[in-house]
Amino acid sequence: MSLHIVRSDITKMNTDAIVNAANKSLLGGGGVDGAIHRAAGRGLLNECRTLGGCATGDAKITGAYDLPCKYVIHTVGPIWRGGEYGEREKLISCYRKSLELAKEAGCSSLAFSLISSGVYGYPKSEALKVAVDTINEFIAHNDMTVYIVIFDREACDISRRLFSEYMDGGK
Ligand code: AR6
Repeated sequence: MSLHIVRSDITKMNTDAIVNAANKSLLGGGGVDGAIHRAAGRGLLNECRTLGGCATGDAKITGAYDLPCKYVIHTVGPIWRGGEYGEREKLISCYRKSLELAKEAGCSSLAFSLISSGVYGYPKSEALKVAVDTINEFIAHNDMTVYIVIFDREACDISRRLFSEYMDGGK
């Protein structure tokens, strides 16, 4: 029952599940999505093809194929359009739905990428606050170890400034 912010490549995490920042097609893309599909291998794309896509704010779970984790949870974050189009609520929903899917699958550890904070343009500090608040709310009532995986230097500096109490490594 804890939250950690780590600087790493999410494809290397051997938590029970990792959370991918996908798009509505679930058929792969750039950023963390591309990295996860490359590391997982063709089997992941084949399974994703059977899912019929995913709505913004929702999440779907698959196997992890060649990745060290057991499951990949694919969630579709909102595209940032200035903050007045329900972006925050949709981002909260991504975290909640992913945490619920991990719980249903019996996961005791879960690693999130920082959903929407890359190509989708959600300001990184705001994206991180939503992640920390929503995960904290969940782990207050559920026994799960949760990681937020920070990849780029900017997000790492922001997280150190805002949430030094949760930071592990990456120094
Ligand atoms: N491990 C952990 N985090 C990573 C990695 C990695 N290997 N690579 C990038 N990040 P993004 P989005 C961070 O753009 O904004 C895709 O094309 C990155 O630094 O991957 O939700 C999808 O198919 C950033 O902070 O996702 C969608 O079309 C964070 O992951 C679209 O991008 C999220 O950046 C989704 O955009």
